[in-house]
Amino acid sequence: MKALFRQRMWQIVRVLFWDLPCTTCLGRSEARRFWKTVFGQLAAYANVMDVPSVDLADLYSGIRDQKVSVGYPGVSLRLLEQVNIAQLVRYLRPQAVFEIGTGFGGTTLLMAENADKNTRIFTLDLSPDLILGAAGETVGIVLRENKLESRSRITQLWGDSRDFDYDPWIEKIDLVFVDACHEYAYVKTDTDNALKLLSSRGVIVWHDYPSAPGVCRAVKEFAQQRKVYMIEGTRIAVYDSRMV
Ligand SMILES: C[S@@+](CC[C@H](N)C(=O)[O-])C[C@H]1O[C@@H](n2cnc3c(N)ncnc32)[C@H](O)[C@@H]1O
Repeated sequence: MKALFRQRMWQIVRVLFWDLPCTTCLGRSEARRFWKTVFGQLAAYANVMDVPSVDLADLYSGIRDQKVSVGYPGVSLRLLEQVNIAQLVRYLRPQAVFEIGTGFGGTTLLMAENADKNTRIFTLDLSPDLILGAAGETVGIVLRENKLESRSRITQLWGDSRDFDYDPWIEKIDLVFVDACHEYAYVKTDTDNALKLLSSRGVIVWHDYPSAPGVCRAVKEFAQQRKVYMIEGTRIAVYDSRMV
């Protein structure tokens, strides 16, 4: 009797969620794609549950009043992400910023241009000889071609973030931007190093949370010990050492 009931239930579920979509509006492959998307989204939600999603204004009152300058070339962030990072820099007024993963250097410039005139910006990337092909020549290209005043406050550093010697910057950095290799082992090490770099008012910002699985896993693990927030509508996660 129980087995029959189970069988009937299974048939209903199958008809509702598979046969019906296949025979009505969707074909078999579309139905497969549809359910893959649904389960993908559910998994993404499950992932972000440990990291609450908030507006920056929920963390920093008045931050949305900050006027910012955005739209620099070579930034890998979406416009809303640029605005969030720029407002964070204007609001927090870091004296020293450390970016792990320079890319073209667009975000480095964005942070430098929105920071105070005495703020120092350090940005680390693999040296060109460690990067295959022409890609190596493009690291920091925006910084080399930039003629803005902030250029003199930006220092490009070269090395693998996993074994780079961070000693001169330990406990001296007010804002760390983690955006290098997105594989879990790298993000985990970069996060451990970012924590060591933080000053007493230090903040860590990760890019590509929760969109990159490796970043997602490392940030979620970090969030088990400390408060981390995801910024609504962006792929940015934030940890502020003063928020306990
Ligand atoms: C997503 S891009 C950075 C984008 C940049 N932060 C921006 O917002 O425009 C990632 C960068 O990390 C660098 N990278 C990858 N693995 C690295 C490693 N192990 N150490 C240092 N940099 C690394 C890559 O060369 C690449 O330039």
